[in-house]
Parts: sequence; C-alpha cells; structure tokens
Amino acid sequence: MTAVGIDAIEVWTGKLKLDLAETFAPQKGDDPEKYTKGLGLFASSFPDAYEDIVTMGANAAHRLMERKGLEPDDVGRIDVATESAFDNSKPVSTYVAGCLEQVYEGDFHHANKGERKFACIAGTQSLDDAVNWILAGRNRGRGALVIATDTALYARGDAGEATQGAGAVAMYITEDPSVVELSTEQGYGSADETDFLKPNQQFPSVDGKRSVQVYLSRMREALADFESVAGATHPDDYEFIPFHTPFPGMVRKAAVLGYRHMIRNTDVEEELADEIGRQPRRENFDDDAAFEDAIREHMDDLKETDAYREWYADTIEPTLDVSREVGNWYTGSVHVARMSALMHAAGSDTDLAGKKLLLGSYGSGAQAEIHEETVQPGYEDAVEAANIDEQIAARYDLSWSEYEQVHDRHNHEKRVELEPFTQPDGEFVFDGWGPMNERKYTYAE
Ligand code: HMG
Repeated sequence: MTAVGIDAIEVWTGKLKLDLAETFAPQKGDDPEKYTKGLGLFASSFPDAYEDIVTMGANAAHRLMERKGLEPDDVGRIDVATESAFDNSKPVSTYVAGCLEQVYEGDFHHANKGERKFACIAGTQSLDDAVNWILAGRNRGRGALVIATDTALYARGDAGEATQGAGAVAMYITEDPSVVELSTEQGYGSADETDFLKPNQQFPSVDGKRSVQVYLSRMREALADFESVAGATHPDDYEFIPFHTPFPGMVRKAAVLGYRHMIRNTDVEEELADEIGRQPRRENFDDDAAFEDAIREHMDDLKETDAYREWYADTIEPTLDVSREVGNWYTGSVHVARMSALMHAAGSDTDLAGKKLLLGSYGSGAQAEIHEETVQPGYEDAVEAANIDEQIAARYDLSWSEYEQVHDRHNHEKRVELEPFTQPDGEFVFDGWGPMNERKYTYAE
C-alpha cells in the first residue's frame, strides 16, 4: 500500500511570553515550583497585538510552502483545526488561503477547505482526513495542508490560567512523505463528557481535576482499542511516545499508566517482580476499592524503578522540551510533542529512520486516539530547518500588567487597542475590521 504521512512540519509560536515562575507565581502568591515541577511548565506563549489564529496558521503554512518550494497548485486541500474560531460559519482555512494568496501568484480556488472541531483532538482528526483523502486516490497528485492553530486562553483567575498558550503547527501531507508515515491501525476511546467545554463562549468552562481523569480513562480505552487491531504493544517498540500535552505533568500521569499496561505479562514485568512484585490482578481482590488501592501503591513503586525512569527519560522526556516553554496549544499540542522528539533525535546520534513512534492524541468532551508512525529516512532535514528554539528565545517577556492587557486584547468580547511589543518582519498581520465585521489581514514586509 502507498505510504502516506507528513512530508513537512513548521511551527509558529505567539511572539510574547509569560514566565510562570518569575511573573505568574508571585502574583498568585504560589511557590514557583508548583508550575515548574508540579505542572512541568516554565512559560506560556501569547499572541502579540497583531497576531491571532489566522496569522499564526498562515505564517506557519507560508514558511512551510517556502521551504518546500510549493505553489498553490501543489495544495489540494487546506484543513484547519482549532477551538479558538471567531466565526461560526466562514472557516479559518478561507482566511488562511486569503493570506497566502497575497504572496503567491496562483490561488487556492481548486482546494477543498474546511475546519475541524473536537477540542484538541481536531488536529489529529484533520491529519486523518488528509491521509484518507490521499489513500482514497482523490488528491490528483496534490498534497494537503493541515494547520492546527489556537489561542488557548482561560478566564483570568481560572485554575487553567497557568496552562495557557498560543501557536500554530502546519503540516504538509503527501504520498512518500519525508518525515513520518502514519499507520492505518488506530484505536479510539470516546465518550460524552462535560469536563471542558465552551458553549458559545470564548473561555472554557473547566472541571480541571475531572478533566485529568477523563483524559486518562479515554487514553486507556484508546490503547486497548489500538491493541485490538495492531496487537500488544511493548515499551521497546517505540522510540518516542508523544502525547497531547496540556502541561507536562499530565503526560507524567499518562506515561506511567501506559507503561504499566504495556509491560503486563511481559519480560519486563518478570524482571521487575523481585523488586516491586508483579502487578496486582483484579481476581486476587475481594472488591474494586482494595484492587485500586493496590494498583496505586504498585504504580508509586513502579515510578521509582530504574527501568521506568530510563524509559521515561528516553521515550517521553524529549517530547516535552518545547511544550514546557510554550504551554498548551490545544489542537497543535501533540504535533508539537512529536516535533520536539524529532528535533531531539536529529540533534543527537540517534538513527531514527524506520523506527516507530506511538502518538496519543486527546480532546476534551472527550476522545483519545492512538496510532503509530514510522520515521522516514531524511527526516532530519525537515526538522533541522525548523527554528522553534530561535522563535522561543526571541519572544518578548511580558510583565504582569502587560499580560493583562494582552489577555484583554485577545478577549473576543472586548475591542481593546494595544501597541504591539514586537515588530512584524516578513509575516501576515491582523489589520483591523472589514464592513461585515470580518477580520482583515495583510502581509507586512
Ligand atoms: P491546580 O489546582 O492549580 O493545581 O490545577 P494542583 O493543586 O492540582 O497542582 C498541580 C500539580 O502541582 C500537582 O501535581 C501538585 O501536587 C503539584 P500532581 O499531584 O497532580 O502530580 N504541586 C507542586 N509541586 C512541586 N512544588 C510545589 C507544588 N505545589 C503543587 N510547591 C489543573 C491543575 C490541571 C486542574 C489546572 O491547571 C487546570 O484546570 N487546567 C486546565 C485543564 C487541563 O489542562 N486539563 C488537562 C486534561 S484535559 C486536556 O488535556 C484537554 C485540554 O487540552 C482541552 C482540549 O482538549 O481542548 C485542556
């Protein structure tokens, strides 16, 4: 069967940063380590006054097209995944195409455009749509642009405020891809949940603690469903496991559950038996409560073993490097985690070509999806061209009162004027309002 997957990836971070230890924690009267150690986050990205989901998405897509030497005719589909849309009818992909048409000779009139919504998992669903479109033979030799773009803002004072973020990931999906091939096997865990939602409102209503449990439950279901088609998974099968990362502490919780599941009835469980015993089995307990207590105790011991710590350091930790610095990008988050791992491998001696990744995507509301990816030879060229570290380092460091102004500027209920903190340089910018209340964009040289 034809190999289909991601041929190129570009990331665009909002140009401002809120430092959680230096700026956020003192305002909240909190120990900075609650954020840096507990949540595992150092900073959040924010959009400058002239940035929004369209500019960030269009800028990431533009960089990608320039690097790959693509013209509009090469793109048969533009799908945007977002949960920060400002229009209930006209999709963000049309605004993005309008931006790109300002800098290319051709147009995107031939391209099918849409917008996907299912909280954060919409990014992976759009990727799926693009892959399926190619596998169905409908692409006429063209590739698909998939853009995950969000301004993940919470109401000020909400517990989620520390996990905000803003940025976009653009991916180009083709046959014979240069970065990763996607497996056809997938697993789902999906249920009607009200852990995090935005019923016609910009800032989410969140039951934060429950959302953590729902994430873990859906992820567990998705892994079991994936194994029902792909066979049992083993920790040694995967070089990296990028998860949806609202904050690295969430992944820490998911990783130990996944590891425990993967090693059950394997050589690894046997090897660890002398040290921490075998995993508790339900049939050996009188009731669920006793079984669950035993599981919790076992997981506390498992986390402390060298086998787990080494696996976590090699397989999970490299996926979190970027996320720690930028916060939650919702639809882009798992794609940032993949990129982070690939950049880590490209910068070390790891020979990743032909090796497997296991992707764990998640969206509140709620659904998890798990699939495998196979890294392609030459992936280093694709990721080395990305300049995420430079973008992260170049962000303007906001004071608390500047942060409040920026938050207001991006509040859809307010129309707040704000002098930008940075200068646009060869990029699309938000340029005011049109006669039908539409947002307008221009290319700033
Ligand atoms: P909170 O109540 O502010 O924090 O909210 P906490 O008290 O639970 O502390 C967080 C962690 O820091 C804990 O670690 C503390 O122990 C630790 P844990 O026990 O959980 O391992 N801690 C410290 N560690 C070291 N030194 C210290 C210290 N103090 C505390 N001094 C919460 C946390 C996640 C609830 C909040 O940030 C929130 O509501 N976030 C938004 C919701 C969210 O991100 N949920 C994640 C799962 S749902 C999801 O991922 C979907 C999402 O992306 C949306 C979508 O799909 O569209 C959100």
